[in-house]
Amino acid sequence: MSLYLTRLSSLTFRGGVQSKLIYHQCWIPVTTICCQSKFCSTGTKQKPDYYITTPIFYVNALPHIGHLYTVLFADVLSRWHQLKGDNVLFSTGTDEHGLKIQQAANKTDEHPTEFCNLVSQTFRDLFKEANVNHTDFIRTTEKRHITAVQHFWMVLESKGYIYKGVYEGWYSVSDEAFLSDSDVKDGMIDGKTCKISVESEQPVIWMEEENYMFRLSEFKDKIHDWLDTGVIHSKNFEQNVRTMLTNLTDLSISRQSDRLTWGIPVPNDPTQTIYVWLDALVNYLTVTGYPNVSSRWPPDCQIIGKDILRFHAVYWPAFLMAAGLELPKKLLCHSHWTVDDTKMSKSIGNVVNPMDKMNQFSVDGLRYFLLRVGVPHLDGNYSDIKAVECINSELVNVLGNLLNRCTSLTINLQQVWTGCYVDDIEKFLSPADQNKFHSLKHLADVVDRFYTEFSVYKALQKLISQLHWTNAFVEHHKPWQLVKSEQSLGHLNVVLHVTMVTLRNCGILLQPVIPNIANKLLNRLNVSDDCRTFEHAKELSLDKKTRQLGKDNSILLKRIKM
Ligand code: MSP
Repeated sequence: MSLYLTRLSSLTFRGGVQSKLIYHQCWIPVTTICCQSKFCSTGTKQKPDYYITTPIFYVNALPHIGHLYTVLFADVLSRWHQLKGDNVLFSTGTDEHGLKIQQAANKTDEHPTEFCNLVSQTFRDLFKEANVNHTDFIRTTEKRHITAVQHFWMVLESKGYIYKGVYEGWYSVSDEAFLSDSDVKDGMIDGKTCKISVESEQPVIWMEEENYMFRLSEFKDKIHDWLDTGVIHSKNFEQNVRTMLTNLTDLSISRQSDRLTWGIPVPNDPTQTIYVWLDALVNYLTVTGYPNVSSRWPPDCQIIGKDILRFHAVYWPAFLMAAGLELPKKLLCHSHWTVDDTKMSKSIGNVVNPMDKMNQFSVDGLRYFLLRVGVPHLDGNYSDIKAVECINSELVNVLGNLLNRCTSLTINLQQVWTGCYVDDIEKFLSPADQNKFHSLKHLADVVDRFYTEFSVYKALQKLISQLHWTNAFVEHHKPWQLVKSEQSLGHLNVVLHVTMVTLRNCGILLQPVIPNIANKLLNRLNVSDDCRTFEHAKELSLDKKTRQLGKDNSILLKRIKM
């Protein structure tokens, strides 16, 4: 075995307090780590449970509703897998290096470190408030990440994929992306004509400098092969990636340090700083403990917005293949939220602040709306009116109302979960109602299929339609009349039982999307914590015994007023 040793350079940040810090200094036998670790594509690997990632968020601006959507999507899938008993690693975080952040920090009085601390904290606070259950929150300025990025660089270098060259072309600071001639057009910014990016309409600059290049063009065919496996979801984004591959050239992966000071230095060459996208993408490895051995690699699902498809579906697999690592199993690409059919932007002043909206609609109200209305492959248009209508008509009128109907003191006099036997069901329900009730057994599997194919909105549609049916069922049987006569109490029991079982099973399946409301609902029905897993949602025969309801009889969700 080769004992080729590479020294990880002392990493210093230029400027400010950070310049005195030496982050990492050690000798790592590159080939040894590569070939013996579980990261190696040829090594044996323990089966990971479930590893899901979100992109890491730029800290140049405060979080908006679109950012929250990305994270909620991951949160729901993560919670779904937990419900099914998987051991989930769910990572998110902030992307803190690069020209874009350097420039944003320069516009403030803060040192970039302070600036990043502040904005990163706003993302962390938002996710906490929104009840996002991430298991890791990574910042690219952390030592563990800098170590991982520099190691990753050395692996690419040791395998011959990096060479020195001259990059000449357009660069978009706002997208941190190199653009070809066809990616730019003439535009107007602040009344001045200039070149702008066709896609993001942001200004671009001309760049000409010596830096390190990555042999991206060598991976064209292999990326096509990877796409053939159906890794991109939804399928309609796959063709975009194939088009990106048509004129694939090598990629500049560093900038001169005098231009880009805020970043990770190239190992053994402090005159160059690592390209922010190479830096950022490695975060997905860092959270698994890279360069140490981890059974968590590769990710089962990586969620990304459509604007960062190129980085994740072209650069990222090429980097990983070059490093001899396994590729992600799924890239889940979603479209964007617009406001009045226009892209959110500070200059237009239409940025929707998710904290405000959670105050207005409640945390679960906002979570429900974004996931119920957000169709991943289509742009979603945000509006307050739409949000209020959706939350009131489904969570308040359908779910809340149904719970109220089976637990209110006027109908459920004893305040109990009403047990019920098959005989009673046959006695009081029509064959059609019986069939519908028994079909509840399959609801969990149908919903599972939707969650598994990332169609959270379809899972919610299905659940809400089951609840709709149950409301109509209650309407038909009129428990408020049954309660008035001693002779019809058996019938009443059946109606309450069917309603409660439906609510329990739907409540279990709704937990990933509206954890607070689902918890309150299940508490009211007195469903014990260990009876709330996916498997429990398949049961109709549980809870035959009558038992007391939970004490908290407060309203599930107040009607939202505009
Ligand atoms: N820092 C990069 C990602 C690096 S990942 C290795 C970045 N950051 S971002 O803050 O600009 O975007 C983060 C995510 O938010 C992306 O997936 C992006 O698509 C998503 N969204 C940004 N605006 C959005 C909407 N308006 N709607 C939905 N998602 C949006 O890109």
